[in-house]
Amino acid sequence: MRQTLVAGNWKLNGSLDSIKQLVAGITAGAGGTGDTQIAVCPPFVYIPLVSNLLAGSKVAIGSQDIADQEAGAFTGEISGAMLNDFSCTYAIVGHSERRALYAEDDELVARKFAAARKAGLTPILCVGETLEEREQGITEDVVARQLDAVIKLESIAAIGEAVVAYEPVWAIGTGKTASPQQAQDVHAFIRGKLAGLDQAVADKVQILYGGSVKGSNAKELFSMQDIDGGLIGGASLAADDFLAICMAGT
Ligand code: 13P
Repeated sequence: MRQTLVAGNWKLNGSLDSIKQLVAGITAGAGGTGDTQIAVCPPFVYIPLVSNLLAGSKVAIGSQDIADQEAGAFTGEISGAMLNDFSCTYAIVGHSERRALYAEDDELVARKFAAARKAGLTPILCVGETLEEREQGITEDVVARQLDAVIKLESIAAIGEAVVAYEPVWAIGTGKTASPQQAQDVHAFIRGKLAGLDQAVADKVQILYGGSVKGSNAKELFSMQDIDGGLIGGASLAADDFLAICMAGT
């Protein structure tokens, strides 16, 4: 039985004050969220603060990105070891905003995935198609290609020690959620593809859905057979909204 994981991706949002308030709200309510695993991914600069504030709570912390390199002359980058120093558990890799706006290709994403694992972090590997790709009927090809790059560099076993997040690009920040069945269809495709390589990995890996998840639609999404939780953007920025989604996983 896979546990439900709800992870908040705060993206480029928040201030010192608003983040203190947000974390206080989340930790105050996290105790009432049953078995749901919870994580938050703040902007890098707030990770030390949030990590301290979360100490002793059930809420884990992750990064929104990670360097593909371990150390050296890579201006602006943050390594897995640095994230480890501040008790990070997760590292998001391959978010569609990084792929589209910062030109991260499948190979770089795979190297970031490898760097996260090497540092002992659990990668949250984001995959998903654009609206154009969906309309062309190539959703499965795109998702398969994004997964294959990681499997080729690492291994199928490595996917079993990671989290996969299916985030259709057309559903991110648009208010247009994939229907539970649309999401389930792609989740089932992902799990089936993994099962073709290693059944145990497919049975074990948590596959999250991301894209306009809210308190009002989370329960229906999370009740689908292959949807094991959510990666939440906008609705993770208000404690009540985020906790309502966490409750939907109980
Ligand atoms: P929204 O929940 O704002 O659509 O963002 C989803 C997302 O990109 C999470 O990584």
